Amino acid sequence: MALINEHYLKLQAGYLFPEIGRRVSEFAAANPDKKIIRMGIGDVTQPLVPTVLKAFHEGVDEQGTAATFKGYGPEQGYEFLRKAIAENAYQANGIDIPADDIIVSDGSKCDTGNIQEIFGADNKIAICDPVYPVYADTTVMSGKTGTCQANGYYEGVIYMPCTEENGFTPELPTERPDLIFLCYPNNPTGTVASKEELTKWVNYARENKCIILFDAAYEAFITDPAIPRSIYEIEGAKDVAIEFRSFSKTAGFTGTRCAFTVIPEEVKAYDSEGNAHSVKKLWLRRHSTKFNGVSYPVQKAAAAVYTPEGKKEVEEVIAYYLENARIMREALKEIGYTVYGGVNAPYVWVKTKGGMSSWDFFDKVLNEANVVGTPGSGFGPAGEGYFRFSAFAGRDNVLEAMERIKNLS
Ligand SMILES: Cc1ncc(COP(=O)(O)O)c(C=O)c1O
Repeated sequence: MALINEHYLKLQAGYLFPEIGRRVSEFAAANPDKKIIRMGIGDVTQPLVPTVLKAFHEGVDEQGTAATFKGYGPEQGYEFLRKAIAENAYQANGIDIPADDIIVSDGSKCDTGNIQEIFGADNKIAICDPVYPVYADTTVMSGKTGTCQANGYYEGVIYMPCTEENGFTPELPTERPDLIFLCYPNNPTGTVASKEELTKWVNYARENKCIILFDAAYEAFITDPAIPRSIYEIEGAKDVAIEFRSFSKTAGFTGTRCAFTVIPEEVKAYDSEGNAHSVKKLWLRRHSTKFNGVSYPVQKAAAAVYTPEGKKEVEEVIAYYLENARIMREALKEIGYTVYGGVNAPYVWVKTKGGMSSWDFFDKVLNEANVVGTPGSGFGPAGEGYFRFSAFAGRDNVLEAMERIKNLS
């Protein structure tokens, strides 16, 4: 008899986006004449930039000639890409990360989820509330939690509420975790963390032998030079932090798929007898056993992001999305909404009016303005009463959506 992994039975039904999809399909079927504007799921809309596309094509062509054809590549990623990442994303900013500490993958979603596998089930995990739902769900899948309680929290997880009162930046937990998920710029609140804020976490992790799992999927949206783009800008972080980065939002790779995880050799975790082990070594063991590398043309395209032309073109796309975010912030503020985020981040976090629930606001915006956003409560209980708008739409749609929302009853 085949037995299932019963931890999966603890998962709450209906991941956020399928439920949004269901409601939108139902609305579209009943209103075929209405043009729906989608600002819900955080997917990009602008195409790959020309320099990246050219490199992608060249990579494909190389696969068509025996002399340049490539079969399996290194599981960790081609040296040319890891070197480009180390030099441009880190060393150029004075951060000493060698190419050897970079492991290329097909997405930060997989990496932030799969990383759980190399840490034992007895680890206590600290997670912000609200946050990207993958951290909590994969914590459950890997057997580190009890069941889900009536308040929406899984037993055994340390939740760190991010509220209007604390500026959506969590306080240090009162109970000591082993692993701490942090996400900056934050999905969904669009909050960024200052150097002081991150220093607080790094010091805490060092003092308590924790590891910080730092998801920097949106670092490219940070334009304020005072805000760290990498956790490794903080002194001592190389001993206690793993950083996840992705080309998805940085360079429009959501459908092309390429990301990387940085694990400095210094990061250690312990066995039950207290012996230290290299986390990078364990992750590489997992990665090379279960993953056969990102395709060569995709890695070639990703490396082109770091060429001078690639950088310039990608920055223009980021600026386009940030301008969308500015337009949305201004429009929503003008009609009396309290708005957060959307400055160094592609998400605008809006407080509903009159204490309306997130899902009620979702239905209202869908039915009256035919605009799709994301209910804040879908990112965790503390997101109730909030709504996330994504700035990844096309400009015309952003302008039209804001015009329609201004006319809500
Ligand atoms: C915080 C965060 N991390 C990771 C991801 C996934 O990135 P990828 O496309 O590289 O899997 C997302 C996607 O929306 C995200 O919001």
